[in-house]
Amino acid sequence: MIYLDHGATTLHKPDSVRRAINWAIENCGNPGRGGHPAAVRAGEVVFRCREQAGKLFSLPPERVVFTSNCTHGLNIAINTLVKPGCRVVISGFEHNAVTRLLYALKAQITIAGRKLFDPEDTLEEFEAALRRGQDAAVFTHVSNVFGYILPVEKMATLCRQYQVPFIIDAAQSAGSMEINMEALGADFIAMPGHKGLLGPQGTGLLLCGREPAPLLFGGTGSVSRQQEMPDFLPDRLEAGTVNVPGICGLCAGMEYVAKTGVQKIARREMQAKNAAARGLQKLGFEVFAGENQSGVLSFLHPAWDCEELAGAFAQRGIAMRAGLHCAPTAHESAGTLETGTVRASFGHDASIGQANALAQAASRILSHQKK
Ligand code: ALA
Repeated sequence: MIYLDHGATTLHKPDSVRRAINWAIENCGNPGRGGHPAAVRAGEVVFRCREQAGKLFSLPPERVVFTSNCTHGLNIAINTLVKPGCRVVISGFEHNAVTRLLYALKAQITIAGRKLFDPEDTLEEFEAALRRGQDAAVFTHVSNVFGYILPVEKMATLCRQYQVPFIIDAAQSAGSMEINMEALGADFIAMPGHKGLLGPQGTGLLLCGREPAPLLFGGTGSVSRQQEMPDFLPDRLEAGTVNVPGICGLCAGMEYVAKTGVQKIARREMQAKNAAARGLQKLGFEVFAGENQSGVLSFLHPAWDCEELAGAFAQRGIAMRAGLHCAPTAHESAGTLETGTVRASFGHDASIGQANALAQAASRILSHQKK
C-alpha cells in the first residue's frame, strides 16, 4: 500500500518509535508517583520528551504539556482564552477542532481571509477584523484540506500589535515546518504527536505561553494536600497518569525529526506533492495547487464522487482520505462544501515514486471508467 494519508495520521513510523514504546511498556512505572526505579525511570523519559519538544519548538520544557491529541490541546487553549460570547477571529481554513468549541461557547466568530493560497488576502482580512476589536484569535498554520500555509508569523505580529491573545493550530505543520514559540509569542500552540512528529496515536503537545485554565482535575503527584490544581506547569494541566509509552514513542519520533531536519522533510513532501499535482492536472483532474502550499493536495474529477474516487484509489493500493476532512469552513472557503475533495497528504517518507504511482493509478481509474 502507498500511504498518502499523513494528514490523518502517520502510519509508517521509524523503527526507533516502535522500540521506544515497547521499552516503556516493559520498564516504566508511573512518573512522579513513587521513588522506586520504575517510577523514577518513567519520570526521566517523560522529562526527556519535554526537553526534546522544548528544543524543537524553542520554549522551556516545563511549558510543554502532554495532551491526548491536538483537539485536546485546542480545547484547553480555547477554554482559557474564550468565555461565552467573546469575539474571536479565525481564518477561513479552520478545522472542527476549533470551530465546534467556539460555536458551543457561543463566541461571536469572524472568519477572516477565505481565498486559498493568498496570504495577502488573509493578512488584510485578519487585520481588518483585529482593528474592529477581538478578544482572541485562533488560526491554523497549514490547512489540513488544501495544504495552504498561512502567514502565521505576520498574523502573530498583528495579534501582538493589537494586543489580542492568540492560539495556533499546528496540527499539519509540527514536524514538517519550523515552529518557534519564542519568536511567535503565541499564547498557545497545539499539535498532535501522531502526525508529523511521528509518535503514536493518543499523543499531543500543548505549548503554553501563558497560564492556562485546567480542563481536567485530579491527581498530579504534587502538592497533594491541596484541593486546587497546582498553579505551576506542567502539573496544572496533567491530571491523571500520562501516556508513558506514547510519550516515549513521541520522544523517539521527535528525535528522528530533529536528526533528519524539518526543512528536509518539508522539501521532500513538497516535491512529491508538486509532482502529484502535475500528474493529476495532465489527466484532467481539478487540482487545488498554488504557492504557499505544504505536502497536502486536494483534487476532484468532474465525473466522480470524491468518496467513490478515493475508494477506487484504495482498490489500487493508494490510501487517501476523501470528503470534508472535519473542516467544513475550509471547504466552504474553497467552494467544495457540496462536493468534498480527495486529499493526498505526503509525509516524512514522501518520494517522487509515490507521486508517480498516484498518477498511474489515476490514469487506470479514468481509462477503466471509459470502457
Ligand atoms: N484532522 C485529521 C485530518 O485532516 C484527522 O484527516
